[in-house]
Amino acid sequence: MMRTRPLKVALLGCGVVGSEVARIMTTHADDLAARIGAPVELAGVAVRRPSKVREGIDPALITTDATALVKRGDIDVVIEVIGGIEPARGLIAAAFEHGASVVSANKALLAKDSTALHALAAEHGRDLYYEAAVAGAIPLVRPLRESLAGDKVNRVLGIVNGTTNFILDKMDSTGAGYSEALDEATALGYAEADPTADVEGFDAAAKAAILAGIAFHTRVRLDDVHREGLTEVTAADIASAKRMGCTVKLLAICERAADGKSVTARVHPAMIPLSHPLASVREAYNAVFIEAEAAGQLMFYGPGAGGSPTASAVLGDLVAVCRNRLNEATGPGESAYTMLPVSPMGDVVTRYHISLDVADKPGVLAQVATVFAEQGVSIDTVRQQARNPGSGDEVTTEQGGAGRRAGGGGEASLVVVTHRAPDAALSGTVEALRKLDTVLGVASIMRVEGE
Ligand code: NDP
Ligand code: HSE
Repeated sequence: MMRTRPLKVALLGCGVVGSEVARIMTTHADDLAARIGAPVELAGVAVRRPSKVREGIDPALITTDATALVKRGDIDVVIEVIGGIEPARGLIAAAFEHGASVVSANKALLAKDSTALHALAAEHGRDLYYEAAVAGAIPLVRPLRESLAGDKVNRVLGIVNGTTNFILDKMDSTGAGYSEALDEATALGYAEADPTADVEGFDAAAKAAILAGIAFHTRVRLDDVHREGLTEVTAADIASAKRMGCTVKLLAICERAADGKSVTARVHPAMIPLSHPLASVREAYNAVFIEAEAAGQLMFYGPGAGGSPTASAVLGDLVAVCRNRLNEATGPGESAYTMLPVSPMGDVVTRYHISLDVADKPGVLAQVATVFAEQGVSIDTVRQQARNPGSGDEVTTEQGGAGRRAGGGGEASLVVVTHRAPDAALSGTVEALRKLDTVLGVASIMRVEGE
């Protein structure tokens, strides 16, 4: 039976995502009504600039008073696609207090305050859904919250930021410069209002916090996530990765410790082998692997950013939340019963690619190797490239092989790839290397994942 009285929806924000939400709500109105069991009506659209032309939206619905809209009292669902912390947080709180359920795409807010927001939703018997907050169109939040609720998730690893993947892909495949690639990602609507959130890894770290919290049934906040962006990644790193048969990706990795007593969450650039499925994730696409005890390895792949893909996730939540309202039910809330602590980055065990500028003279390799040994970090391979400025001369010496040029007086680039070691041991190694007179600089340190 179709209810004739419509469910009223307030849309907060009508930018890249909001405008697509409004478009799909209008063009698919009949299908949405049939799936929900009642029509949904756009009751108001809050924006900052009321005079901006918004195609397909009745100008009478536009308001700059978002607070008055959510407090009207007749709103069933508030869709928050403004972004940022305030006024989004206050508006969501007001929505619950005035009887509405909430659908949000706001990972920054959820990674900061989801516990308080979930508590408010529960107090008022309403839903808080946020599929669009992680990896655009890809269903991840619902599979973790619902489909895998009976399993034990041990690891979540993936590419969760479209902008940075777009930039790295362009740098790698077309040789485009960093700024040029970022401008293109921004023009395509992938980047955050302040793209620093993307390139410095804050956006991916927020998503990692959300995923880790749901996956491990604990509380993980943005500040718990170790974060490194891609601004330090150089063309030389990308070239060095290629020589190793790898590519560079900004990864989010959330893991349960082997003893099950803690978790870690981190975001950083990493080299991954070209044979790994994540290596072939191009442009603004995202992909996430989930490893669960009973299910094994699952892979989720799709468009991770952009108005229309993100609106798809928002609309999926809208349908779910509306169905719940009609059934006078609510969906899952926060599940944080394990209360597992988040361990520091130093406890993470992985492999490393370290590029050093060294004096090209006898004994340097031995000195460097000794530092690694003293810190308990085992070396897998060493590659030395002697630099002979001006001549283009490059001589490569692999570990264990005989040098083909007598070192003397110049500089060389030494690339060391390690076996798995704790991050704290690697930091100690780098600190000790910097103290060697023969180490002229640490050009780059990158983790190697996915092997
Ligand atoms: P935009 O910057 O394109 O849109 C923001 C909208 O919010 C605009 O319509 C703006 O109004 C409105 N707005 C800003 N401040 C206020 C305010 N104080 N009161 C009322 N309205 C306000 O952002 P996006 O659409 O790209 O992103 C929205 C949310 O979705 C963010 O949380 C983002 O992280 C998330 N998201 C975005 C994705 C993407 O690919 N873009 C993907 C996944 C999630 P006006 O139009 O007048 O400027
Ligand atoms: N700025 C984000 C990205 C949008 O590039 O992934 C999707 O969350």
